[in-house]
Amino acid sequence: MNDTLFLDQVQMRFDDGTTALDGLSLDFPAGSFTALVGPSGCGKSTALRLLAGLLTASSGSVTRPTRDQIGFVFQDPTLLAWKSAYDNIALPLKIAGHARADIDRRVSQVLDLVGLAGRGTALPRELSGGMKMRVSLARALASQPRLLLLDEPFAALDELTRLRLDDDLLRIWQQNKCTVVFVTHSISESAYLGERVAVLTDGGHLAHIENVPAPATREDFRSSPEFHQAMGNIAAALGHDLSARGGT
Ligand SMILES: Nc1ncnc2c1ncn2[C@@H]1O[C@H](COP(=O)(O)OP(=O)(O)OP(=O)(O)O)[C@@H](O)[C@H]1O
Ligand SMILES: [Mg+2]
Repeated sequence: MNDTLFLDQVQMRFDDGTTALDGLSLDFPAGSFTALVGPSGCGKSTALRLLAGLLTASSGSVTRPTRDQIGFVFQDPTLLAWKSAYDNIALPLKIAGHARADIDRRVSQVLDLVGLAGRGTALPRELSGGMKMRVSLARALASQPRLLLLDEPFAALDELTRLRLDDDLLRIWQQNKCTVVFVTHSISESAYLGERVAVLTDGGHLAHIENVPAPATREDFRSSPEFHQAMGNIAAALGHDLSARGGT
């Protein structure tokens, strides 16, 4: 899959008559990192579930890789409480019929990637919230997905843990070069992570696409004028004026 993925004129109308998306078109070039930001109920999760193939569009078309090439990370880590970190990560690989040696190799590789080398035997209750989310991310990465979909994965975590996981995710993306679509409520997180930020407003309307300039280094990006400009533009598309509030 070296191709761009598309949502083309996608409409999603649920059985109860709710229209979540009404003609959304958005493309996702191979290897790109897109952040989707917008208010609660605007259709972000619906767009992600359509890309994952968990929902079928009422009309329009969706191009996506096959199911085994897609990794999905939810807001809740959704780990099995009685299974170790290792077994939680290994489970989808076992179900997919991978050989034992291959599973061992992949699980230790992704545990290492998410910074949990040596913690494979821990049960979920022995891990912090941030660590549980790292296990959840490792489970999605273990299938070596071409498309990684994340639905507000770090929203429940404290600010410092979230900032660290944002940086870890960027590092993983730069190493893996998979296509990433990251849903968030946070304007600053969207501008920090996304090469491109798609701003959705109510009814799944695409209000704006912000192309965020690639920073020379990540360390000073949050204090750079480019970052603040991007946040201002995203906020404006959402109907907020950050400068009027002293800018944050
Ligand atoms: N299975 C469903 N049946 C009926 N309506 C639904 C269903 N799933 C979502 N909706 C509706 O579609 C709209 C978009 O929902 P969606 O979950 O995509 O929003 P969201 O942007 O992810 O919101 P949040 O930020 O709160 O997670 C909402 O009005 C929601 O009530
Ligand atoms: Mg949602």
